Amino acid sequence: MPGIVIIGTQWGDEGKGKVVDLLAESAEMVVRFQGGNNAGHTIVRDGEEFKFHLIPSGILYPGRTCVIGNGVVVDPKVLIAELDGLRRRGVDVSALRLSANAHLIMPYHVMLDTAGEAKLGKLEIGTTKRGIGPCYADKSARLGIRVQDLLDPKILRKKIMAALEPKQQLLRPFARDPKLDLHAMTEEYLRYGHRLEPHIADTSRLCWEALDAGRTVLFEGAQAALLDLDHGTYPFVTSSNPIAGAACVGAGVGPTDIDEVWGVCKAYTTRVGAGPFPSELDDEVGAMIRDRGHEFGTTTGRERRCGWLDLVALRYATRLNRLSALAITKLDVLSGIDPLRIAVRYRGSEGAVFDDFPYHQSILHTASAEYEELPGWEEDVSEARSEDELPPEARDYLAAISDGTGVPINLVGVGPGREQVIATAAAGVRA
Ligand code: GDP
Ligand code: IMO
Ligand code: MG
Repeated sequence: MPGIVIIGTQWGDEGKGKVVDLLAESAEMVVRFQGGNNAGHTIVRDGEEFKFHLIPSGILYPGRTCVIGNGVVVDPKVLIAELDGLRRRGVDVSALRLSANAHLIMPYHVMLDTAGEAKLGKLEIGTTKRGIGPCYADKSARLGIRVQDLLDPKILRKKIMAALEPKQQLLRPFARDPKLDLHAMTEEYLRYGHRLEPHIADTSRLCWEALDAGRTVLFEGAQAALLDLDHGTYPFVTSSNPIAGAACVGAGVGPTDIDEVWGVCKAYTTRVGAGPFPSELDDEVGAMIRDRGHEFGTTTGRERRCGWLDLVALRYATRLNRLSALAITKLDVLSGIDPLRIAVRYRGSEGAVFDDFPYHQSILHTASAEYEELPGWEEDVSEARSEDELPPEARDYLAAISDGTGVPINLVGVGPGREQVIATAAAGVRA
């Protein structure tokens, strides 16, 4: 089965990095197709932790081609720092390929992101302030600078000049910042281009060649369905499309190249930044989950908001992505919480019941979740390696997720380590 998309089904940080790392063992290529260094994907190997922001989570396998696709927005300074950091740890990064068509995050994008949030004040989105939104905005406005522009000093300077001009007004508070000097910026980005040149490639073609040869290509999503620009909790979303359909656009492959879509889902829910979260727990259970699940952002270190698993939202993500499998992570974190609750419907402020994810923003902001209760379990499950080593209550909890979505669970995470995983019977040949 050559084309497999792996995406987040909630508000991010579901453990996509870990699932990609596991599947990458039998893949030829791992491709990031959207987002930028707002992502933080963690892999724990032999007790050693790796955090990836731009580089695909397959890089730890020697020789695995890792692609940053055209749909990603790339801060070259961050990418170079990530490459250098991995090299220092002895990781061979020579198989990284960077799309010539990917857009670059420029210093003014980061400044605009920060300024935009400050302007919104109490209405802020809580972005990662990495310049993601302004960079995608320039891409759509056809004022973007692309990776390939780094290879031509004249074109680069011209494009920066054109892009910078309309920003001067918006960035008045930063007017004297040397980072906004055209000459200095052009020189800085030419240096980055020089460093990145060996990695720059026609990455769509690389994907086609691997797929045509029947090799497995993993498409690694960043962020998640409910942060999707079109389908998420707008405007409290990111500026790209993290759903599976975007893998085709962001990597340059066709829909029929995709054979499977795996949705990664935490056994509970978390969210970083502002926006509606109907099953949020603002009590000691939420604090306990945050504490035990180490729910602090990989990228910004912010506290993650925690809550119960939300089946209404998960069913929505299931359909948006047409999931073929689920990977449930962090089941271990729920040990000792009894009873457990799963949100099965929302109730609007005027009493209306919503079995489906409501399209109207005002409803979502005021709706509260209604729950089904399930018995919890006391046992530590972090050593379980097969379903039958799980307590019956944990198996029932997983069955409730699978039955509630109609999607088989292929993997269950019981700890951050690479080996702390259960391949279920549903995973079939892959188990
Ligand atoms: P991503 O952005 O979706 O890749 O997820 P993050 O890496 O931001 O956050 C997931 C966190 O949970 C990381 O610290 C992982 O090491 C950790 N993790 C992943 N799977 C499991 C699991 O099954 N159990 C526990 N306890 N931690 C996990
Ligand atoms: P991974 O890939 C969790 C959130 C931010 C903010 C909103 C918009 O690790 O799951 P942005 O900087 O993208 O304009 O911020 O999206 N956000 C994430 N939350 N995990 C992520 O990535 C996220 N990337 C962005 O907190 O609410
Ligand atoms: Mg993350």
